[in-house]
Amino acid sequence: MAPVLEVKDLNVTFRTEAGKVHAVRGVDMTVAEGSVMGVVGESGCGKTVTMLAVLGLLPRNATVTGSVRFRGRELLGLPGRELRKLRGSKLAMIFQDPVTSLNPVFTIGNQVAEAVRVHHSEVSRSAARTRAVELLRRVGIPEPERRADDYPHQFSGGMCQRAMIAMAMANDPDVLIADEPTTALDVTIQAQILDLLRDLRRDKGVAVVLITHDLGVVAGLAEEMSVLYAGRIVEQGRVADIYRNPRHPYTRGLLASLPKVNEQGQAALTPIEGAPPSMLSVPTGCAFHPRCPHKGPQCMTEDPRLRPVGPVRSACHFAEDLDQRPVGAS
Ligand SMILES: Nc1ncnc2c1ncn2[C@@H]1O[C@H](COP(=O)(O)OP(=O)(O)O)[C@@H](O)[C@H]1O
Ligand SMILES: [Mg+2]
Repeated sequence: MAPVLEVKDLNVTFRTEAGKVHAVRGVDMTVAEGSVMGVVGESGCGKTVTMLAVLGLLPRNATVTGSVRFRGRELLGLPGRELRKLRGSKLAMIFQDPVTSLNPVFTIGNQVAEAVRVHHSEVSRSAARTRAVELLRRVGIPEPERRADDYPHQFSGGMCQRAMIAMAMANDPDVLIADEPTTALDVTIQAQILDLLRDLRRDKGVAVVLITHDLGVVAGLAEEMSVLYAGRIVEQGRVADIYRNPRHPYTRGLLASLPKVNEQGQAALTPIEGAPPSMLSVPTGCAFHPRCPHKGPQCMTEDPRLRPVGPVRSACHFAEDLDQRPVGAS
C-alpha cells in the first residue's frame, strides 16, 4: 500500500551553549496507510525529536534537513500557515503527559469542541459541542454529556489521556502520532488505552506512529518497528521478524530486558549495561559499541549503515553472524 508518511534522511541539529547536538542522524521511515509503526529506544535516543521534526514543531535553535512527505507532499520548508492547517486535521499528535497537556481553566468538553472548530470555523458552537460529546463517548468516557462539563482536575490520568485522544481524533486524522501515550498511566489503564488505539485504527483506518520505550506495547499493536539508538535507526522491519530474530545487539538487549516470568514466578530481566551516550559526544564508529557485547575492532572506527539483512534492515557490522560472535569480543 502507498505510504501515508515517508521520512527520508532526516537530520536534526540543535545549537546549544554546550555545542551542537546532532539529535537525529539520517532517519528513514515509511508508514503505510492505516498501519502501526512502533518507534522504540531508550530515553534520549531521539524519538520525540524525530516526530516533532515531522510536524514542524521544533524550537528555533533546531536545524532540520532531509525530507518528510505526507501523501507525497513535502512538509519540510512548508510555510507555517500551511503546516498548521495539516497539524490537527491530517496529522495529529498526543503527548506523554495528558494532565499537563490539557488547559486547566477550560472544561474538557470545551477543549474537545475547540479542537473541532480550530479547523472548521463554520461548525456552530452547539454542533461542536455535540461532536465533542460524541468523541468523548467514542474514546470511552462514561456519561459523556455530563462529564463534558468537568474540568481536567476532575478527570483521572487515564480519562485525561482519553480526552487527549478525542481531541486528536476530532478531525479524523490520517496519521496519529502517539508519544509514549501510556507511560504516565498505571498498568490496567495502559492496556485500556492501547485497546482504544487498536479500535481507532481498525474503525477509522488511521495510521499510528507509536513511540514507546516498552517493547511489550509494540508487540501488541504495531506491525512494523524502527529501533532508534543515538539518533539513528539501528534496526527496522516487521515486528514479527524482528522479535523472532533480532539482527542488532541493541534490539537483542531491549528484548532481553523485557520482564519474563520464570518457573518460580519471579520476573527475570537482563538490562543492557551502561547508558546511551550524550548527543554532544557520540562515540566514533558504531555509537552502540561501548555497550555492545559482540563488538569487533571495526565497530570503533566504521559507522555501520542500515542495510538489508534477511527480512529486516540492520546497522550492525556483524548482523549476519551475531550468534557466532563471542560475547564480550573486542
Ligand atoms: N530543544 C533542545 N535543545 C537541545 N537538545 C535537545 C532539545 N530537545 C531535545 N534535545 C536532545 O535531543 C536528544 C533526543 O531527545 P528526545 O527526542 O527527546 O529523546 P526521546 O524522545 O527518545 O527520549 C536528547 O539528547 C536531547 O537532550
Ligand atoms: Mg520522548
